[in-house]
Parts: sequence; C-alpha cells; structure tokens
Amino acid sequence: PRSGGFAFILFGGTGDLAMRKVLPALYAAHRDNLLAPEGRIVAIAQQALDRDAYLRWVDEQVKPHAAGKGSVDEAAWSGFLERLSYLQLDGSRPEAFATLRDARDLLHGTRIFYLATGPSLFVPVCEGIAAAGLAEGARVVLEKPLGYDLDSSNAINDAVGRIFAEDQIYRIDHYLGKEAVQNLFALRFGNSLFEPLWRREWVESIQITVAEELGVEGRGNFYDQTGALRDMVQNHLLQLLSIVAMEPPQSMDADAVRGEKLRVLRALKPLAGDEIRQNVVRGRYHAGAIRGASVPAYLDETGVRPDSVTETFVALKAEVENWRWAGVPFFLRTGKRLAGRVAEIVVNFRAVPHSALGPLPLRSGSNRLTIRLQPNESIRLNALAKQPGMGMNLRGVYLDLAFDQFFQQDRMEAYQRLLLDVIAGRLALFVRRDEQEAAWRWVAPILEAWARPDAALKPYAAGTWGPAAASALLARHDTCWVEEE
Ligand code: BG6
Repeated sequence: PRSGGFAFILFGGTGDLAMRKVLPALYAAHRDNLLAPEGRIVAIAQQALDRDAYLRWVDEQVKPHAAGKGSVDEAAWSGFLERLSYLQLDGSRPEAFATLRDARDLLHGTRIFYLATGPSLFVPVCEGIAAAGLAEGARVVLEKPLGYDLDSSNAINDAVGRIFAEDQIYRIDHYLGKEAVQNLFALRFGNSLFEPLWRREWVESIQITVAEELGVEGRGNFYDQTGALRDMVQNHLLQLLSIVAMEPPQSMDADAVRGEKLRVLRALKPLAGDEIRQNVVRGRYHAGAIRGASVPAYLDETGVRPDSVTETFVALKAEVENWRWAGVPFFLRTGKRLAGRVAEIVVNFRAVPHSALGPLPLRSGSNRLTIRLQPNESIRLNALAKQPGMGMNLRGVYLDLAFDQFFQQDRMEAYQRLLLDVIAGRLALFVRRDEQEAAWRWVAPILEAWARPDAALKPYAAGTWGPAAASALLARHDTCWVEEE
C-alpha cells in the first residue's frame, strides 16, 4: 500500500546520515512504488546551495549508497530527484524558520520533520518548527543518540515534549527496523514450542552479541565523544534484550508492545560499585588485523583525542529482576574491530538434572538456541546425539533454519521500513520516551563509574573477540561466549 501525501523535511540534508541512510531509503521506497506520487522531500542544511547544486550533490554522494551493491534504476532515480527540493536554513536560529513557513507549496500533506542532525540541534529545530506554526499535526523523527546521558536526554525530551505530543514523536532505533529483529516477535509469539521453556526454570543464561569488524569509519570525532556504551548498548542491545525477555503482549499495538518492553527495562537490576568493576568490561582496540589487512589502533584514528579514554568494546552481565528471569544472567557484548561481523542471541538451556548416560560433553554446544540476526538470518538448535557405534558417545549436532531458504525476496533495509512507518503513522517500532529513559537510567551508574580516573580500560588487538576480561566474566559463570568453544 502506498503512503498518503506528505512533506518529508530533512534537517541535516547534506550530512552523513542523510547521504548514507535516509536518502537511499527514501529512494528505495520510491523505486518500490511505496510513496504517494505527491509526496515531497525538502532537504535543509546551512550551506548556500540552490536546488540544482543540491541535486548534483545527491547525484554524486547519495547515488552510490542508493545503488548498494548493484546499480540504481535510472528512471526511478530521476523520478526520485523530482521529489527533492533544497532550503538553506540555520536550524539553530528559530527566527530563520520563516523561510520554511513561506515555502508553503512544498508543505502539502502530512509534515514529517526528520532530524538527521546532532542532538544539540533537536531543541532549537523543534522550537523553530513551532515558531513557524508548523508543529500542529506534524510528526518529528529523532535520531540516536538522543542526548549524552539521562539528564541531557530528559532535557531534550522535555523540550521536544512541550511542542509535540508523544504520539507525534518517532525515536529511531534502526535495529527495530531490521527484519530479523521483528522475526523475534514471530519466533516467540507465533510458536508455542519455545514459550514454555523461555524462563528461569529452563534457561541458564542468555548471550546477546553485536560484533562489528568496522572501526569508526571517519566518524572518529563523533565516536570519541560517544563510545560503545552510548552508541550501542543504551539503545540497540537493550532493545534486543527487552524483546527477548518481554512478556507476550496483548496485541502488536504500539503501546502494548512498548509497555511490555518497558517493564523489562525497568526490571533491570541496577548496577553499583563493585558490581560494575566485576560485571562490566570496558575495552579499546589497539592495532591489529581484520581479514589479514592491518588496521590502526583506535587512538590513531582521525578525530580521536590523544588522551581519549573512550571505549570501543563493552561486555557486561545484566539481570532482569522479575518472576520469569530472576537469577538468569544476560551477557551483552558489542565492539568495533572484532574478529567477525555478527549479531546474535544465544539462549543456553540448563543441563539435564541427572545424566543416565555418563558425563555429558556440555560445552559442545548442546541445549542451545541461537538466533542469528546478521549477517545471515538463521535459527539454530543445538542438541546432543549419539555417535554411531557401540558405545554411548555423545556429540553436539544441530538443526539449522536459514531464512533465505524460505524467503528469497530481498530484505527491506531497516531505514526504509522505518521511514515508511513514519509516513504511515505507525509507532510500534519506535522507542517511547519512558523506554528510553529507563535505558539511560540503567547505564547511568556505569557511565559514572567510568568517569573516575582509576576506571579500567582493557586493551584488545583489532581482529580479536575483545579483551580477555570478557571471557573471564563468562568463565566465572561457568560458561563461555559461543565462538570461544
Ligand atoms: C549505529 C552505530 O547505531 O549502528 C554505529 O552508531 C554502528 O556505530 C551501527 O556501526 C551498527 O548497525 P548495523 O545495522 O550495521 O549493525
């Protein structure tokens, strides 16, 4: 189904995010015939460009990203360019928004303000929109990071909340737009097989890994002020955790789903003092090799301060204090320049209470469900089986469900899916204010502990699975990260 008429007003229209993600996603939606023909895109930035110069920039900079691994459809591309206009406007000056108000002919249909800017512009831009009388009935999309910590995110949410009602605000966490993440809902709530086992009685521990091979990719400046905890854990990993651990929602209605996720986030056991030292590992890569090619140390990346103590890796143990999960460790791990690109959730089930078969090779990946989100979406169930022969020798085997065996069609990019949701007014895959606040509240003590000068920052070589302390954390719980078996 096509979206209705809209004006998509893109702040940060010449920025990195617009170039890599937002404009390519809009192009893909246009190409797939999912946008109403009368929908317009108005890019806004400070540079003095006219429309032609902007379109040239889009042609040069955005097109390669829109093409992905293939090439763009030229007819679709020129149709997409026709939707675009450009306005020069300094978003930090609310009085400048008169220019936008006067561009009436570009603003027909639902107004969507997409803030692909740093968080410091969120409030001035929203105030400018309000001052120009354009807020009513509009939607506003906020990119992460929404603030820097609990206080700054509250300040932004308060100020934006004075202008827009919560149901006008779309906080993007692009992980929620991933097909594989939505599939978690299908797996958990569309099958009766797993649900009875999905609890402390049967689950020994859960691992959530989002590992990247990439480094900071020209974003050194931004990343150095952010770090892995703010960049990945506060949002993507805690969102994954909340979907894995949530109770079945009453329906897929936005607030039913978000309410259940919130309950998980609020049930996270607060970390303090010694627990942070013991259960949270902060790491940073030094030089190493990825797939045989040497890569520099984090400290040698452009934009990184020489005295930086920013982490590029986090591993931690979280606990969800409720009836279903009490006592079950959730091990979370994410990092840049690791040995592989993989995002997966591993559910380790408890060992049998008594083995009639002699000692069981428990470490060989038995009793385990692995849900791989990327690169290839799959679900794997590990079990023990008898090796053929006389003795009762057991070995780990598995059932593998690779999604592309069943679904050949291309996956929609997370951003495309989410932008179409914004245009259609569907909020379920966007983060509600209270969820975001709960997530910031939980990471706050970790940020505080790390701000102390004696806080440890463990080294790891680029191209490995992170600092030894991350393995030690699991070893203390008698388990190990899956790839370390
Ligand atoms: C972004 C982070 O939110 O997610 C990046 O800012 C990170 O640092 C990216 O690389 C990872 O997303 P994906 O979709 O490639 O797993």
